[in-house]
Parts: sequence; C-alpha cells; structure tokens
Amino acid sequence: MRLFGLWTWIWTTFVVSVLSQQGILDLVARRMPNHVNAFEFQLTGNESLPIKSSSILTNDKYGISSTTNGKILVEGNSLSALASGLHRYLTDVVHVDIWWFIGSQLDVGNSTLPLLATPLNGSSIVPWRYHFNTVTFSYLAAFWTWDDWELQLDWMALHGINLPLAWVGFEKTLVEVYREIGLTDSEILEYFSGPAFQSWNRFGNIQASWGGTLPMEWINNQFELQKNITKRMVDLGMTPVLPSFAGFVPEAITRVLPNATIVTFTSNWGSFPAPYTNPLFLEPTDPNFAILQNSFISKQTAALGNITHVYTLDQYNENTPYSGDLDYLRNSSYSTLQSLKAVDPDAIWMMQGWLFFALSSFWTDTRIEAYLGAVEVDTNMLILDLISEDAPQWQRTNGYYGKPWLWCQVQDFGGNNGLYGQIENITINSMEAFANSSSLVGFGHTPESQEGNEVVYDLLLDQAWSASPIDTKAYFANWVSRRYSGNGVIPSETYAAWDILRSTVYNNTNASILAVTSSILEKSPSANNMLLLPDCTGPDSRDLAYSPADLISAWNLLFNASKTNPALWNNPGYAHDITDVTRQVLANNFTDIYLSFISTYNSSAASNATLSPIASNMTSLLTTLDNLLLSLPAFSLSTWLDAAHAWSTNTTLQAFYDYNARNLITLWGPDGEITDYASRQWGGLIGTYYKPRWQIFIDYVLVTPVASYNDTELKTKLRTFEDSWQVAGANGTAVMSRIAEGEELKGVIGAVVSNWGVAFGI
Ligand SMILES: *[C@@H]1O[C@H](CO)[C@@H](O)[C@H](O)[C@H]1NC(C)=O
Ligand SMILES: *[C@@H]1O[C@H](CO)[C@@H](O)[C@H](O)[C@H]1NC(C)=O
Ligand SMILES: *[C@@H]1O[C@H](CO)[C@@H](O)[C@H](O)[C@H]1NC(C)=O
Ligand SMILES: *[C@@H]1O[C@H](CO)[C@@H](O)[C@H](O)[C@H]1NC(C)=O
Ligand SMILES: *[C@@H]1O[C@H](CO)[C@@H](O)[C@H](O)[C@H]1NC(C)=O
Ligand SMILES: *[C@@H]1O[C@H](CO)[C@@H](O)[C@H](O)[C@H]1NC(C)=O
Ligand SMILES: *[C@@H]1O[C@H](CO)[C@@H](O)[C@H](O)[C@H]1NC(C)=O
Ligand SMILES: *[C@@H]1O[C@H](CO)[C@@H](O)[C@H](O)[C@H]1NC(C)=O
Ligand SMILES: *[C@@H]1O[C@H](CO)[C@@H](O)[C@H](O)[C@H]1NC(C)=O
Ligand SMILES: *[C@@H]1O[C@H](CO)[C@@H](O)[C@H](O)[C@H]1NC(C)=O
Ligand SMILES: *[C@@H]1O[C@H](CO)[C@@H](O)[C@H](O)[C@H]1NC(C)=O
Ligand SMILES: *[C@@H]1O[C@H](CO)[C@@H](O)[C@H](O)[C@H]1NC(C)=O
Repeated sequence: MRLFGLWTWIWTTFVVSVLSQQGILDLVARRMPNHVNAFEFQLTGNESLPIKSSSILTNDKYGISSTTNGKILVEGNSLSALASGLHRYLTDVVHVDIWWFIGSQLDVGNSTLPLLATPLNGSSIVPWRYHFNTVTFSYLAAFWTWDDWELQLDWMALHGINLPLAWVGFEKTLVEVYREIGLTDSEILEYFSGPAFQSWNRFGNIQASWGGTLPMEWINNQFELQKNITKRMVDLGMTPVLPSFAGFVPEAITRVLPNATIVTFTSNWGSFPAPYTNPLFLEPTDPNFAILQNSFISKQTAALGNITHVYTLDQYNENTPYSGDLDYLRNSSYSTLQSLKAVDPDAIWMMQGWLFFALSSFWTDTRIEAYLGAVEVDTNMLILDLISEDAPQWQRTNGYYGKPWLWCQVQDFGGNNGLYGQIENITINSMEAFANSSSLVGFGHTPESQEGNEVVYDLLLDQAWSASPIDTKAYFANWVSRRYSGNGVIPSETYAAWDILRSTVYNNTNASILAVTSSILEKSPSANNMLLLPDCTGPDSRDLAYSPADLISAWNLLFNASKTNPALWNNPGYAHDITDVTRQVLANNFTDIYLSFISTYNSSAASNATLSPIASNMTSLLTTLDNLLLSLPAFSLSTWLDAAHAWSTNTTLQAFYDYNARNLITLWGPDGEITDYASRQWGGLIGTYYKPRWQIFIDYVLVTPVASYNDTELKTKLRTFEDSWQVAGANGTAVMSRIAEGEELKGVIGAVVSNWGVAFGI
C-alpha cells in the first residue's frame, strides 16, 4: 500500500502573475510552425499554477482527444501534464520526436495531423521527474548558448521533466555575497575555477583556476543566460532547483570573518595539489553560515524571482567530512536546513546521494541515519538516489529513513561516447523500488553528460508514467519509427538492428561495468596491457558488456537499410546513428589490433618487420575513425572549441576558454590529474591528439627492445606532446567538421564498409 499522504506537501501561495498555458503554445510555435493552429490546450483542476503552489503535490494527468472542428485537444492538470500529453500524441500517433543533436523533427510528419477515434490518457506514477547532475553543467553544457538551452528545455518539457537543476551563473550571486562582507574582487575571483571546471568548484572539490582567472565578463554573461533558462523552465511548467550557499569559501574569508569556525577538508580530491584542492569550509553551525545563506538566497530570489522552494546543496560530495562523530554530522545537517528555512520557510533541501555510494566506508548506516535524521520533517528534503540502476542505496538506508527520494540513472560518465544501457534495470528494478518504497517520489536522470544512448533516457522517463515495467521490444520498435520518420518507408532492417542493440548493447546486467564507455584508443598509450588498468571510477570500463560480433550484425543491418531506402541518407536521425554505430565498431576493433601489437611485441617474433604492419593498421583505423566523425558536428571537436570561443570577443579570454575546453577532455587538470577521464571520440580530437599519441608510442616501441621498455620514459614523451596540445590555441590544430549528410555521408560510411567491413565479417 502506498502512503499517498506522504507527499501531500503544502506549498505556500505565491503571487504568480500569469496563470496560462502560453509557454506550451510558444513551444508548439517554436517546434511545429506548420501546425500552430492544430492544437488546443486546456488546464484542468487546481494543479494549474506554473509553480506548484497552494495545492497538494500530486501526479500529473493528461487526456488527448479530437475536437469537432478537427483540432487535437490536450487536457491536463499541470503544464507538465500538457507537455507530456502533447508528446504522447506526437510520438505514438504522428511518430515524430525532438532529439539531442538532431534537433526537433516534430514537424516532419503529416501536413494534416491524424485525428483520434478514441481519446488517449496518461497519468504519472510519481509527482517528480528530475534532470541533471551538478557535473553535467561542465561535461555537457559548459559552453552552451541560449539556442542549445532552448532545444534542451523543449526536449525536457516534452519528456515530462518538471524538476530540473539550474546551476548556470551561480557565481554571480556569490560574488555579490562576498563583496558585501568585504572581500575584494580579486580575492573572490581567484577562488573560482575556470569555465569548464565550475561544477567541481561548486561541489567544493577544487578551488582556483589554472591557465587564467575566471573573468567577471564570463560570470555576468552566464547569469544573463540563467535568467533566460529559469524563466523558460517556469513557462514550461518546471520547478527549477536553484543553488544555495553550501559553505565553501575563499581563503581570504578569514580576513573578514576572523572568528568564524572554518575547517579544511583533507580529501585531496582527484589528487590535485595545493592550491587547487581542499577549499575552506565554513561550518554550518557557525552563525555566519546562516547570514551568508540569507544573503545568497535573498539576492538570487530578487534577481530570478520567487520561482522555487527547492535548493541543491551538497557539502560532502567526494569530500570526507571533517569529523565522523555522530553529533558533528547531526549538527551539520540540522544547521544547514535551519539556514535555508530562515530565509525561505518552505525550503526543501535537495542533495545528491552519490556520497553514500562513493564514500561508503565513511558513510556507515549509523552516520547516514544521524546526518539525515537531524532534518526532523522528512518532506524538508529530497534525495537523489544517484545510480539506482547499478548501486542503489535506498535499500540499505530503508528508503533514506523516510526522506523522499528519486530513482536516478547515471549515464555517460565523463561524457565518453560509447554505446551503453541497462534496459532491465531501468524498467524492472525501478518498478520494484516503486512497489517497495513509499518514500519514492520521482524518477530522473543524473547523467554526467548527454553524448548518446538517448533511447535509454527516453525509456526511463516514459517509465515514470507506467507502474509496470515497459515492454522494451515494443518500445524500441516505436522509438525507431519516430527516430527515422520523414524520409519515406522505414525499412525492416532498422527495426531488426535496434532489436539486436536492445538485447545486447543496451542490456548490460553486469554490475561491475558502469556507464564509463571510453575505448583504449582515447587513453594514454602503453605496452603494459591497458585493458588491465583500473579506470578513474572503479572497475575497468573497457570491458564491453556485449559481444562485438552482435554490434557488427546490427551495423550490417542498419547499413543495409539504406540500400532498401536510399533516402535514409538524408534523414538526420539515420545519419547520426549510422555514424555512431560505425564509430563503435571501429573503436571495438582497435582493441584487437592493439592486443595483437603488444602480444607480438612481447613475443620472440618481435621485430620491426612484424610490428610495423600492425602499427600501420592501428593508425589507419584512427585515420578512418577521425574522418568518419568529422562528418557530423555532433561528433567533432570544432563544435566544442567554437562554442568556447564564442563566449568572448577578447582574444586573451578566447585563448583561456580554448585551453579550458581542451584541458577538460584531455589532461583534466594542470598536470593530468584526471587525465583522459572525460575523453571523447570526436573527429579532430582523434586526428590531432589521440593519433599523434599512438604514433609517439609506436615510434618508441619500434626502437626499444621489450627488455628495455620503460613506461615512465614513454609517458614523459607523451606528456610533452599533451602539454603542447593544451595551448594550441583558437586556430591551432582543430580541424573543422563537415556536415556530410546525404551522398557525402554515404560515401564516407560506404568506404568504411568496403575497407573494413570484409575484415569485420560483413
Ligand atoms: C500520416 O498519417 C498516417 C495516419 O493517418 C500515418 O499512417 C502515416 O505514417 C503518417 N505519415 C507521416 C510521415 O507521419
Ligand atoms: C536570452 O534570450 C533572448 C531572447 O529571448 C536573447 O536575445 C538573449 O541573447 C538571451 N540571452 C543570453 C545570455 O543568451
Ligand atoms: C573576534 O573575537 C575577539 C575575541 O572575542 C573579539 O575581540 C573581536 O571583536 C571579534 N571580531 C569580530 C570581527 O567579530
Ligand atoms: C517573493 O515573495 C516575497 C514574499 O511573498 C515577496 O516579499 C518578494 O517581494 C517576492 N520577491 C520577488 C522578487 O518577487
Ligand atoms: C540489474 O538487472 C540485473 C538483471 O536483471 C539484475 O541481476 C541486477 O540485480 C539488477 N541490478 C540492480 C542494481 O537492480
Ligand atoms: C538481458 O539480460 C538478462 C540477463 O542475461 C536476460 O535474462 C534477459 O533476457 C535479457 N533481456 C533482453 C531483452 O535481451
Ligand atoms: C576485429 O576484426 C577482426 C577481423 O579482422 C575480427 O576477427 C574481430 O572479431 C574484430 N574485433 C572486434 C572487437 O570487433
Ligand atoms: C621499420 O620498417 C619500416 C618499413 O617496414 C621502415 O619504414 C622503418 O624505417 C623501420 N623502422 C625502424 C625503426 O627500423
Ligand atoms: C589489420 O586489421 C584487420 C582488421 O582487424 C585485420 O583483418 C588484419 O589482419 C590486420 N592486419 C594486420 C597486419 O594486423
Ligand atoms: C581581454 O581580457 C584580458 C583578461 O581579462 C584583459 O586583461 C584585457 O584587458 C582584455 N582586453 C580588452 C581589449 O578588453
Ligand atoms: C625509466 O625512465 C625513468 C625516466 O626517464 C627513469 O627515471 C628510470 O630510472 C627508468 N627506469 C629504468 C628501470 O630504467
Ligand atoms: C585566428 O585566425 C583568424 C583568421 O585567420 C585571426 O583573425 C585571429 O586573430 C586568429 N586568432 C588567434 C587566437 O590566433
């Protein structure tokens, strides 16, 4: 029996100016200009305020029907319900959708939209659908423009997201808070991390910046963007989760608050050296904490409006608390909540539950209970169970000791590009949680980035509207029919290809393989078997959760579909997916060639004559892969670098942003502290960074007998190159991407198939 009353939270009445569905009408106008007059929207019930307010938090419901005058009527009890209902009609009846990278394809369907003989209805099974991880704002969106955000927010609204994290421009409010207590601008700015690294500064993992200082220009521009983002979120019926003051402070705070209780963490996050790690932490029990909290939230509300009561606040994310004493932990969380309540009596504290998994040896059940227990009213908190599909913590904590929590999937660690998914866990196990924990109030995504595997994001968000596990076979077929719509008949081979992917690539059930999907081609080369190296996040991620032969079968089918219907080459969804699958096939095969190379090197047959042909096989594969990925902006380094440069017209700042953009995806730190963790299989990056590294490796190995092989010596040579690439500059080595759809892409993929396909058995 579900305790429905648990989330009957009463929300304060806001003076909300306009109560309307204008935001949804605007979405239709943006994405379906050919069909602006085809829809009518009707809000029903008392759940209609943009900000859930003065009402009981309930599930969202919609109904879709045809009107006598031939329009499609969407009724719903909230704006999110209206957007969800609209999406249901578009995906299930018109077979069109909106996508990352590919953009909105909502208008490619029939010119006259099909009427409904019988109405469609839907009801969410949870009140909240959540999106974003604090780190997504760096790995994915560090350099996003308003255009990028508009697409993302429309995608989120249509997918039923009503609780999005909204970190952009956080530093602007913080600057004002610190100025007010007497810190100078340089004392404040020196504490911040660079444009690509703000997430970890916000988490208190790192401080300061390498390669330049964060300029006020950046901070101001980002905050202007945040105003657009949060306004649009509200217009689309979402409750933004806004930042708050977490306690991390610049060193100079001790000058202006000499008596405050300030501690230093000793986590040495990511093995960063001083002065980049262990920021000072103002204890929540110190009276100054509440003062700064009040200042922060008041200023933020003044600038963005009364748009939420939900605040994100993480103090111990990959930071070991100063003390494990139970009273210390209780006092810390008690005071933190009080600081929020003092400025917003209806405040709800949202925290990521990653710490209970990542630092599980510190966070014993007793400590978790003490820390959470000091928040006396359960509904004052929301916990994101961060990697529910792999390492859920809700069972061992008895549903977070009653605190409302959300079942969240973590895809795409570091923004790596590999194909990956756990369809059984996100359908079957999420529903087990729903049936067994009455404090489960939402489903969501806490991905590190969004580089691919969109199908599993869609699947989980749709699961939030169904109390029984979704039938993935039918789901994938429906997904394919909207993914490739708009260019004539969708050949049966595409459905067959995706059905193979569903039960192989997207059916990982091995808990030791997480969504860290990089390939060794992106890692610093070594003749010591790289497949045995531990990854940054734990178990070796380069073990595939599926047989590469299955992927090759799916690739073959997907390619053959274009023979059945050549117009597919002009379909952006097909162009994206055939590129992505070809990328993965080549990346997987690189591993085999590498293994053959090192085994020959370690054998008595090792000689230049035996090694050179294998080496040219490796570099030739990398050249092919680079050329393939340069075909589409979604897979190209230049897209990322151009976005970074576009944030300033000042060439000094452009160079700093360029360095940040390059450093995050390669060395990740001034001296390779987290090197290659955020690696990407991108055209331009493979050609100018990964391939030269492999060439350095090959050149070294060919002149070094195995008995004299010295990995440290090799790494030193590699680092010289890696360092020089960081500062290659705005015009440096980035190769521009093409937009090679249609015949041109057919030529590129066709060449891969004829040059490598035979070897791969197709
Ligand atoms: C047009 O609508 C019909 C049903 O009325 C459907 O079968 C067909 O697939 C639609 N075409 C497109 C391109 O969406
Ligand atoms: C905010 O949106 C407006 C259009 O509504 C646009 O002109 C402006 O550039 C956006 N601001 C930023 C910082 O992107
Ligand atoms: C700090 O404490 C000392 C000793 O109690 C007191 O004299 C001083 O005024 C305090 N300073 C501030 C800024 O509160
Ligand atoms: C927010 O709400 C409070 C209390 O109703 C009100 O005093 C304040 O003016 C509002 N602020 C903004 C920016 O709307
Ligand atoms: C994920 O699914 C597999 C296969 O059904 C199952 O064995 C495993 O326990 C699930 N893991 C979690 C964390 O639910
Ligand atoms: C996924 O894998 C599990 C465990 O190997 C298996 O029982 C299940 O049938 C697979 N599901 C699909 C859709 O292939
Ligand atoms: C790589 O290609 C070879 C054929 O040359 C094939 O035997 C092997 O299975 C492929 N490996 C992977 C991982 O795709
Ligand atoms: C290795 O052999 C290739 C030709 O197979 C030759 O071009 C190259 O110079 C040789 N390298 C060394 C280090 O002997
Ligand atoms: C090069 O790689 C292909 C594909 O894996 C394989 O068929 C071929 O035997 C390799 N050649 C050498 C010399 O390793
Ligand atoms: C460009 O930015 C740098 C670093 O912030 C600054 O020192 C310089 O004055 C700026 N140049 C111009 C022309 O604004
Ligand atoms: C390996 O190379 C490093 C750096 O060049 C050197 O310090 C070290 O002594 C070498 N190790 C051996 C075993 O020669
Ligand atoms: C990049 O190239 C353009 C055009 O050649 C030039 O105007 C600009 O100054 C260059 N920028 C840098 C940072 O080198």
